Amino acid sequence: MGCSNSKQAKPETMAGRKFLVGGNWKMNGSKAMYKELLAGWNAAEITKAVEVVIGVPAPYLDFVRTEMKPEFAVAAQNCHNAEKGAFTGEISPGMAKDCGASWAIIGHSERREFFGETNEIVAKKTAFVVEQGLQVIACVGEKLADREADKTMDVINAQMKAIADEVKGDAWSKVVIAYEPVWAIGTGKTASPEQAQEVHAKIRAWLKEKVSEDIANATRILYGGSVKPANCNDLGKCADIDGFLVGGASLKPDFTTVINADQS
Ligand code: PGA
Repeated sequence: MGCSNSKQAKPETMAGRKFLVGGNWKMNGSKAMYKELLAGWNAAEITKAVEVVIGVPAPYLDFVRTEMKPEFAVAAQNCHNAEKGAFTGEISPGMAKDCGASWAIIGHSERREFFGETNEIVAKKTAFVVEQGLQVIACVGEKLADREADKTMDVINAQMKAIADEVKGDAWSKVVIAYEPVWAIGTGKTASPEQAQEVHAKIRAWLKEKVSEDIANATRILYGGSVKPANCNDLGKCADIDGFLVGGASLKPDFTTVINADQS
């Protein structure tokens, strides 16, 4: 099923939002594996106007920046919100940048769930990382219990409010929001295009009401949660879906099919 609310029906609100396809390799892979994967991607034909951003485990940022074609950007999967200091095990945005990253994924649900990142921490990191010169994919999304209790938008609005309390004015041009329902991550259960579109439209409406109409129209909102070649075309056509953040399927050669997804 496609989205009844398609982009063609709403061209006036697009405000130059370039489609963005993010990969998130999480804690997977090795130099040998990346080398093989990237050789295929580097040779593949990219037929769409699309920005590609790959979330790479920190030790491999430099390696992937060297191996991957320059048109595709490298993202850190997390950064600490300090320039330097006694934070054993953390990396700063400056370090990620020094190793070739131009983006960071912040507030992924796995960071929130397993590493105790609260809405406030995620928001502070988002603002700090932008200040340090990287672009940010900031993640929001509800758990299954939230959805079942009809609390999806309460949870997401609180996550968005925390971000909007820290990110001001021009900094929004460096922030992309990824809506990732936690129940759809790594489970094979994708939100239907209608379910995703509904939440994306509500996030954009929230931005319009609480931040500004211009920022609401210009901010890209990605969908994440079991996106793969088989479902990317239907999702990509929805009016308020401006791209994807992809986990499992971004570790495969045919991720280029998702990069070339229908975005009309
Ligand atoms: P998935 O992960 O595509 O494997 O569901 C998405 C994500 O966690 O960003």
